[in-house]
Amino acid sequence: MKYHIAKGVFDILPDDPDPKGIWRNSHLWQYVESIAREICLHYGFREIRTPVFEHTELFQRSIGQTTDIVSKEMYTFHDKADRLLTLRPEGTAPVMRSLIEKNLFQKQKMQKLYYLMPMFRYERQQQGRYRQHHQFGVEAIGNASPYQDAEIICLFFGFLKKLGLRGLTLQINSLGTPEIREEYKKELKSILLPHFDHLSQDSQIRYHSNCLRILDSKAPEDRSLLKHIPPLMDFLNDAAKEHIHTVLGLLDELHIPYVINHSLVRGLDYYNHTVFEVTAEELGAQNSLGGGGRYDGLIEQLGGPSLPSIGFGAGLERIIQTLLGQQAFVPSAPHASLLLIGLGEKAQRFCFQQICMLREAGISAEMDFSDKKLKQTMNYANTSGVEYVAIIGDEEMEKQSCKLKHMTTGQEEELLLTRLGQRLKK
Ligand code: HAM
Repeated sequence: MKYHIAKGVFDILPDDPDPKGIWRNSHLWQYVESIAREICLHYGFREIRTPVFEHTELFQRSIGQTTDIVSKEMYTFHDKADRLLTLRPEGTAPVMRSLIEKNLFQKQKMQKLYYLMPMFRYERQQQGRYRQHHQFGVEAIGNASPYQDAEIICLFFGFLKKLGLRGLTLQINSLGTPEIREEYKKELKSILLPHFDHLSQDSQIRYHSNCLRILDSKAPEDRSLLKHIPPLMDFLNDAAKEHIHTVLGLLDELHIPYVINHSLVRGLDYYNHTVFEVTAEELGAQNSLGGGGRYDGLIEQLGGPSLPSIGFGAGLERIIQTLLGQQAFVPSAPHASLLLIGLGEKAQRFCFQQICMLREAGISAEMDFSDKKLKQTMNYANTSGVEYVAIIGDEEMEKQSCKLKHMTTGQEEELLLTRLGQRLKK
């Protein structure tokens, strides 16, 4: 029986054999993750990791029953004790669950956290949508200031800039408070009611279940109707207007370009006030590199204190694909500096000791334990990317030396073993 990988997921390998699958090479993931960690350190955010599965109800309550994620995309199962569990489709709700459960808000209301975690959504298979995707997520909890919104967006932009991504669009909108949204929904429904039969099938369903989502419908029949709808921003009260205008003013001062997108409502129910998304043209239909917003009521809704919060989640698959698409700098795959070859059994044993000492001294080195011929081992050295090859035979053992070859220049020399470490460190 031949086993195949499940649909919609992928392996991350050191060297993916498919030329179109370079984005799955592990060193690219390590690189992007290291930049994410570095930027979070600069902003004072610390890492959190939550379990891969949670009680289903957590996601139903937070993301919302009528959202696509909860109604169609969750991997939900009963465990052996008949508990209903779900593979994490997003990171915000589990992070809040953890903080509430551990009472962490008692000591410290302000929490600044980030995560690099896989998420699971049963999506229709298409370019840019995976059933297991990976997010770099950031959550700032306990602060209602518009400065916090600007800081989160600035962190996200700083991350993308550090990666060398260009030509990105930041779309931003305000969803106001839940009360404002309720009022707006009523208005939206009354304007759309006479045109109900002309709405797309999806929007007809959303009219009853989650009518705000009609705003971000891409169906042409909906788009032409939506042209005549007043934007939600017109319904904001003074405080909500001031909030979003301060955020936009701060972004202006930071020279972060944005477009106000009145149709941006996001696919999760917990958002209010500022919402945003960063898109990249290269990605085609699934062009969102990441998105987020304020979720001021979520913690209270999940049984914790009332704490205003904001965050974002960015998809690592799409970020790496955009990096490659834009031919931005990416590091080459890391390799050991040295391949040590012992000629004959005695020399192999000797080399095995030497290599341990070199590694202890901080040199990355590898050895081939198979009984390959020297030529075959040299072929391996040529393709593996090592910088140097050191060969030790009986004669070198006696002299406590090695024959050292630089693989790019082809230059060879004899070197005392006592000087090898220092030489490679150079
Ligand atoms: P989201 O917009 O559902 O937000 O996902 C964030 C990002 O994850 C998307 O912009 C996209 O890059 C990536 N993504 C989502 N689904 C997939 C998929 N099936 N395949 C590949 N990439 C995908 C959230 O999840 C919120 N929890 C973000 C947030 C954090 N809001 C506040 N804090």
